[in-house]
Amino acid sequence: MATVVVTGATGAIGAATVAALQKRRAHVIGLSRPVLDLSSIASVRAAARELNRTAGHIDALLNIASVFTSRYQKSVDGFELMLATNHLGPFLLTNLLRDRLASGGRVITVTAPSTTQVNIDRLLDRDRFNGFHSFGATKAANLMFTFELARRSKRWDVRANAFHPGLVRSDLMREAAGVIRFATRLVSRGPERAANDLADLALSPAHAGTSGWFFKGSRRIDPPKSSLDETAQAALWMRSADLVELEGGF
Ligand SMILES: NC(=O)c1ccc[n+]([C@@H]2O[C@H](COP(=O)([O-])OP(=O)(O)OC[C@H]3O[C@@H](n4cnc5c(N)ncnc54)[C@H](OP(=O)(O)O)[C@@H]3O)[C@@H](O)[C@H]2O)c1
Repeated sequence: MATVVVTGATGAIGAATVAALQKRRAHVIGLSRPVLDLSSIASVRAAARELNRTAGHIDALLNIASVFTSRYQKSVDGFELMLATNHLGPFLLTNLLRDRLASGGRVITVTAPSTTQVNIDRLLDRDRFNGFHSFGATKAANLMFTFELARRSKRWDVRANAFHPGLVRSDLMREAAGVIRFATRLVSRGPERAANDLADLALSPAHAGTSGWFFKGSRRIDPPKSSLDETAQAALWMRSADLVELEGGF
């Protein structure tokens, strides 16, 4: 039986994905607060320690959790909250599960085709905070993290892919202006299709060797050019490792 770890398991896409995986008889470990608070380094480390102690082999890790905030908020570690939750937390969790994911484990990170430039110094600067900019940057960081991880998988035998669910009805943008929420709701759909596509990516033998790809649903799509700069990807990896004090520099 395949073991799949899912973050954001209480959210619209996360909960539907847990159901889709269970339907296919996967053993699902859904991680949500308070067991895992991705905005807290200590919480991520504690959850990873527990998984490393109990989980045996992890066949897939689905990084689904995310937050959007319109006002500046600081994480317990002093980082802007979206940077901490959407990028640094999943970055650290994935790295700490390295041994459990070895031998072809799949890491799927749910994101969007964001073209926002990722400048960590700007994201850390409260005076330059803009909610949409920071959110977009964290989603671009998800792409860059995925492509760098896929490249590193030559040393660490893991498959890394990014996934865009399309517009799905959820409360993710609850802090956005009413007009944006209304317009998005009109064109968004339920989470079932995205959940099934994610379950395919996590479990299907057809994707056993797929790595470094960006999917929209079941289709491979071109990532934004801005996410493909390998020097920037490597620099983001090193800076992120530094911020979360990741030892070993995988
Ligand atoms: N919906 C869309 O149209 C759309 C489009 C493109 C990409 N996406 C991506 O799809 C993913 C899921 O989005 P969704 O629409 O399903 O959002 P959602 O319903 O708001 O779910 C967000 C999930 O993230 C969790 N979360 C938030 N902060 C957390 C933290 N500090 N620690 C741990 N978990 C935390 C939430 O947990 P709580 O229940 O504890 O708050 C919830 O389970 C996100 O990565 C999003 O960027 C969504």
